[in-house]
Amino acid sequence: MAIFDLTEAELRKRSSMKWQTYPPDVLPLWVAEMDVAVHPAISAALLAAVENGDTGYPVGRRYAEAFRGFAKRRWGWEVADTQVRQSGDVMNSMLGTLQTVTEPGDGVVINPPIYPPFRTIVERYQRQLVEVALTDTGRLDLPGIEAALAGPAKPKAYLLCSPHNPNGTVHTAAELSTLLQLCAEHDVTLIVDEIHAPIVAAGTVFTPILSLPGSERAISVTSAGKAWNLACFKGGLIVGGTQTGDILARLPALLLQSMGHIAAITHAAAMNSAADWVDEYLLEVQANKELLASLLREQVPAARYTPSTGCYFGWVDCSGLGLANPARHFLDQGRVAFNDGATFGAQYGQWVRINLATSPRIITEAVSRMAAALSE
Ligand SMILES: Cc1ncc(COP(=O)(O)O)c(C=O)c1O
Repeated sequence: MAIFDLTEAELRKRSSMKWQTYPPDVLPLWVAEMDVAVHPAISAALLAAVENGDTGYPVGRRYAEAFRGFAKRRWGWEVADTQVRQSGDVMNSMLGTLQTVTEPGDGVVINPPIYPPFRTIVERYQRQLVEVALTDTGRLDLPGIEAALAGPAKPKAYLLCSPHNPNGTVHTAAELSTLLQLCAEHDVTLIVDEIHAPIVAAGTVFTPILSLPGSERAISVTSAGKAWNLACFKGGLIVGGTQTGDILARLPALLLQSMGHIAAITHAAAMNSAADWVDEYLLEVQANKELLASLLREQVPAARYTPSTGCYFGWVDCSGLGLANPARHFLDQGRVAFNDGATFGAQYGQWVRINLATSPRIITEAVSRMAAALSE
């Protein structure tokens, strides 16, 4: 049986953000929740904890241990226990690290289009945004990055998303090595969000930033939250390069106390016992990307979409459709909810992000709603 096989009726019983934000006549393919059942190994660990009344504070290194084992098996990457800190989630880990390595007013590089909280944690905490957009083919603009690092803002930190949300680009080892070299030359701390790292199609190589030479001063933040759909259990990991002891020692104390005990149990169960499941659903994600491409070609031919090999999103250019606001138009006229590209960067208002971690049935219905919204 397919993993993305839940019916709309089953999914509408859910009370979390994806299925409850919009009225019941809207089909939601937006926020990064997956339309999957909980993996049996994770629900077994969760149920055992609840049955035992095991709902107190976390103790020990269960999550860090699970991650180290997973990283070694999946990427052949050996992480020392001393490099890993457990925390409450990924974005607070990125924020806490950013606050540790920068002062208010310091420049921080991001690459739009980008997961919106990257911009938030720079702007809301009085750092200065230095934006270097991805190229037209969705890759890192290395000459642009070099110019920004050498430019007047003199950035002190760089927030990279790897793989990149929303467009699903998987950065190559060569690109990442160049980035590390540029950051070292300009004394910039590279903080890399690798939460989507397991979600990479077979045949594409994901390179953990800290597995590369020159990553001694870089930091990775991650969790099992995306790849196993565990956002409700707040947990995260901060992994420092081999020469980041001074940074790790200065991380905010409460950040390092914010992991929940059930998060540690469920995220660890995912990494220890449910890796094969990710590979299984990745085949479905790639098929869903191909399905989206062919449905758009037939029914919305002016939309431009190229399937990526990372993340479970479709990042679709709707500028050929002649709409003032495509996401709003599809919502209002088609009753289908996508993420508005403008939330990933003001210049991307003609794009939508479509969450493809769902059934082919729902994707097919979503595209027919897009087409209907255009014919009205
Ligand atoms: C790139 C990226 N980082 C972080 C998160 C959220 O992680 P957390 O809830 O652990 O902060 C998401 C969620 O979609 C994401 O896409």
